[in-house]
Amino acid sequence: MPEPKPSPAVPIKGGNFLIVGGASLVGSATAEAMLKGEAASVVVLDNFSQGTPEALRHIEGDPRLRVVSGDILRLAQVMDAMDGVDGVVHLAAMMTIAFDSDPRRGIDVNVIGAQNVIEACRLKKIRKLVFASSNAVYGYGPGVVGDLVEATPFHTAGAPPAAILYGASKIIGEQLCRDAYRRHGLNYVVLRYSTVYGERQHYRAANAVLIMDAHDRVRGGQPPRVVGDGSETKHFVYVGDVARANIAALEATATDVAVNLSGPAPTTTGEIARLVIELSGAKMQPQYVEPEAGKVRLTSGGAWRIDHALAEKTIGWRPQVDMREGIRRLIVWRDAQGR
Ligand SMILES: NC(=O)c1ccc[n+]([C@@H]2O[C@H](COP(=O)([O-])OP(=O)(O)OC[C@H]3O[C@@H](n4cnc5c(N)ncnc54)[C@H](O)[C@@H]3O)[C@@H](O)[C@H]2O)c1
Repeated sequence: MPEPKPSPAVPIKGGNFLIVGGASLVGSATAEAMLKGEAASVVVLDNFSQGTPEALRHIEGDPRLRVVSGDILRLAQVMDAMDGVDGVVHLAAMMTIAFDSDPRRGIDVNVIGAQNVIEACRLKKIRKLVFASSNAVYGYGPGVVGDLVEATPFHTAGAPPAAILYGASKIIGEQLCRDAYRRHGLNYVVLRYSTVYGERQHYRAANAVLIMDAHDRVRGGQPPRVVGDGSETKHFVYVGDVARANIAALEATATDVAVNLSGPAPTTTGEIARLVIELSGAKMQPQYVEPEAGKVRLTSGGAWRIDHALAEKTIGWRPQVDMREGIRRLIVWRDAQGR
């Protein structure tokens, strides 16, 4: 008789987890949420090429947390970090701006690195992998308008190469997961995050940097700059909601599926600037400017939104924090850092 397949549901309470690329925005919130959810242990593997130990300062000292310095391009290091682990969240990646400065490195980390993590999961019999993908799999440019659902195709015409290379690398990562499920039965859930923002925000994401730049300028007494007329659509998701989704994906019985994660509603570049001004307690108007030559911008064909109904159906997740509250929390965190 064949052995019954273990359930793809991996409860956080009492479980052991590895967060690959966890010393950053999403990883730090996910590790914190897992510890709060009574995980037995959480290992964070990172090569600190972009992330920093400071990102984990708020949870350091918790005896269940172990931070390991290692590189996903080295299979043995990834496998070592998986000893005794039940579930893995794979976050290590290069985003669009990094692809713009070093495409070769982007391909290495996002494709070969992802395959190493998937291979290690298979060899170590990990019960479930959560793979961080992106709404970049829908592409950018004039073809991107309206509701983006999981079946929406990849638009490339008229978009910057770095954004398309990044999106394509995430599509490859997703398909490597599907392939490992098909060949070896590796349980996985792909989460296509929209732009993540919140506490421990960095400057590496082409959209969230709009919030950071606006806040830096307001703090310096200058109006935030908005490219164009401020009507460009953006769709963000708060980092605490993303951490909850990573956990929901592990705990759900769902497997072999890709779902969108997005905040309650899309916003515009003008609205972001106005919210930052208001929530910083400043009185000024945004300054509308022409695009800066050579800077990667992620533009679309008009108004659009990322639909997250499938996430609710498959992993029981829906966003809780809207832009006003999320930006407020980000500003409170930055102020507490003395910036
Ligand atoms: N931040 C966003 O807006 C956003 C949006 C959509 C998808 N995502 C995806 O979510 C994930 C996490 O996002 P984030 O903002 O926390 O990412 P990040 O880029 O800040 O963090 C990735 C982490 O991976 C580490 N890393 C990079 N190369 C590595 C390697 N070779 N070996 C080991 N570690 C390595 C970095 O040091 C960093 O700490 C990424 O996969 C990203 O593509 C992020």
